[in-house]
Amino acid sequence: MSMTFSGQVALVTGGAAGIGRATALAFAAEGLKVVVSDVDAAGGEGTVELIRAAGGEARFVRCDVTRDAEVKALMEAVIAAYGRLDYAFNNAGIEIEKGKLAEGSEAEFDAIMGVNVKGVWLCMKHQIPLLLAQGGGAIVNTASVAGLGAAPKMSIYAASKHAVIGLTKSAAVEYAKKKIRVNAVCPAVIDTDMFRRAYEADPKKAEFVATMHPVGRIGKVEEIATAVLYLCCDNAAFTTGHALAVDGGATAI
Ligand SMILES: NC(=O)c1ccc[n+]([C@@H]2O[C@H](COP(=O)([O-])OP(=O)(O)OC[C@H]3O[C@@H](n4cnc5c(N)ncnc54)[C@H](O)[C@@H]3O)[C@@H](O)[C@H]2O)c1
Repeated sequence: MSMTFSGQVALVTGGAAGIGRATALAFAAEGLKVVVSDVDAAGGEGTVELIRAAGGEARFVRCDVTRDAEVKALMEAVIAAYGRLDYAFNNAGIEIEKGKLAEGSEAEFDAIMGVNVKGVWLCMKHQIPLLLAQGGGAIVNTASVAGLGAAPKMSIYAASKHAVIGLTKSAAVEYAKKKIRVNAVCPAVIDTDMFRRAYEADPKKAEFVATMHPVGRIGKVEEIATAVLYLCCDNAAFTTGHALAVDGGATAI
């Protein structure tokens, strides 16, 4: 059975790279118009170029998801460009800690919570009125396996991703009767530039990280994109408030 999309317009935050870029490409390949958003304009425009080169329709809108006014303006730009919003993938996130809980700084805490939690909250705050006015839609937020359990040396990040799941579940229940579905995707370690930068200098560490996944490898960005599209599509009409681990079995151990 193939995925069916009755909507026409998708928004991806953090769309300049990694999981966001792959998901923007996947939405476009399904024939959806895509608004790619990020603080990284060069990367975001690069995603748009890739979509256009493949015959798709997209445009870039710069937005820092930590700024209320910018997030509001982003949603206005989506409507100005394409007239509606059907699917929102709130995916912008940062991962900057390097030490145990007692070694963290207030600046790290504020930065991580600002992007990962406030950013997702602001996006949903400004998306939901649009979806209500249209009579429905679907939202997927990027959490992490660090939203489902401990993440040693990444405690603030883990707290932020647990919070993403809390926002997701609460919004799902609040708006379930209004035909707005809200789910989260929880990736384990995924092969992105971030991962390569961190581990290319130390192949032994990279091998160890692979063994943390029962399937014996880390994930691919396309594998997360597929899960996001599923959670958005009509086939998932009965799925809301769910945090879907896409993790090679990592959380099953
Ligand atoms: N890569 C992994 O292993 C992994 C695992 C679990 C969860 N995640 C989550 O997946 C999401 C995407 O991460 P990725 O791995 O593709 O990393 P990435 O760094 O390639 O992509 C994140 C994007 O978010 C953007 N961004 C950062 N701050 C922003 C802000 N304030 N406003 C708007 N955009 C902002 C960045 O510019 C970047 O393009 C993040 O939420 C991350 O926490 C990643």
